[in-house]
Amino acid sequence: MSETVLQNVYLPKTVILDRVVDEIDEVKTFFWRFEDKQEQEAFRKFMPGQFAQVTIFGAGEFPASLPPSPTESEVFFTIRKVGSVTAAMHALKPGDRFAVRGPYGNGFPMEDFYGQNLIFVAGGIGLIPLRSCIVYALHNRERFQKVQVFYGARTPKDLMYVDLLKEWEKSAGFECHLTVDRKDSTWKGNVGVVGSLFQKSGVELPVENTTVFVCGPPVMFRFVLKDLKSMGFQDRQMVSTLERYMKCGVGKCGHCCIGVAYVCVDGPVFNLEQIKKLGEEI
Ligand SMILES: Cc1cc2nc3c(=O)[nH]c(=O)nc-3n(C[C@H](O)[C@H](O)[C@H](O)COP(=O)(O)OP(=O)(O)OC[C@H]3O[C@@H](n4cnc5c(N)ncnc54)[C@H](O)[C@@H]3O)c2cc1C
Ligand code: FES
Repeated sequence: MSETVLQNVYLPKTVILDRVVDEIDEVKTFFWRFEDKQEQEAFRKFMPGQFAQVTIFGAGEFPASLPPSPTESEVFFTIRKVGSVTAAMHALKPGDRFAVRGPYGNGFPMEDFYGQNLIFVAGGIGLIPLRSCIVYALHNRERFQKVQVFYGARTPKDLMYVDLLKEWEKSAGFECHLTVDRKDSTWKGNVGVVGSLFQKSGVELPVENTTVFVCGPPVMFRFVLKDLKSMGFQDRQMVSTLERYMKCGVGKCGHCCIGVAYVCVDGPVFNLEQIKKLGEEI
């Protein structure tokens, strides 16, 4: 007689917090590992742009992007404290346990972009979901043509992943342009919205054979899309991630639905053509 093993998709696996890094005000990066090594290996097959459901015991569960690239050895989340569950996560100390289920969602199909130019445009904590693809592109540099990063934050203190940004600025064949809305005495770079970087002398955005990744607050998103459209980019060339309230993360509860699409399964990555078809306001 065959034995039927029922898998509970809602059951998170316990992980151990290894270390915590302060990024910017109210934002921290949490490096963690599964208690079970096999779970760790299975999980590390995630794709850039996927997310996981994070459980903080006694507080609740929430969705979080996976900012590491699958080409990196460590796994981590970068989390902004906005409410009760993210505050409980911020209170965790190395050695504490929490739980994770996933990876979920479609992710960015990076292999489909081999041979193309990649342009990454991020505002504020919009760099969290794009970090994975950018590091992936850097680790697979020969597979892509031109790679450009345009990143803006409100002030120099709001720029995330600063060590990585310095590395990107120095990497051969990899352009990294930064800007802030308001400078301080330390800032020698560009001042202005992220779209102002497209006009900088020496900056050329290739329109043909290019995919543009855009993530950031809605107002930045709208202005950047307008700039890109005026340069000739088509809707299907521009990809982003949609954020929706999620509960199950696996296409069962319907919390994340936009029209016929389940953002947790069909997304969170969509191109602009798909986003418009869903009737999403941009
Ligand atoms: C696919 C996906 C990936 C995400 N990745 C990250 C990430 O990498 N890092 C990160 O810090 N956050 C991320 N978020 C947002 C994160 O899930 C919410 O901030 C979290 O659920 C808030 O939980 P809370 O209990 O602390 O706050 P709550 O008390 O639930 O909410 C506090 C405030 O945050 C707002 N809020 C809560 N959830 C969302 C949401 N899903 N979208 C927009 N606003 C919300 C509420 O309206 C409220 O104003 C992601 C969300 C999704 C859907
Ligand atoms: S979160 Fe339940 S269906 Fe998407």
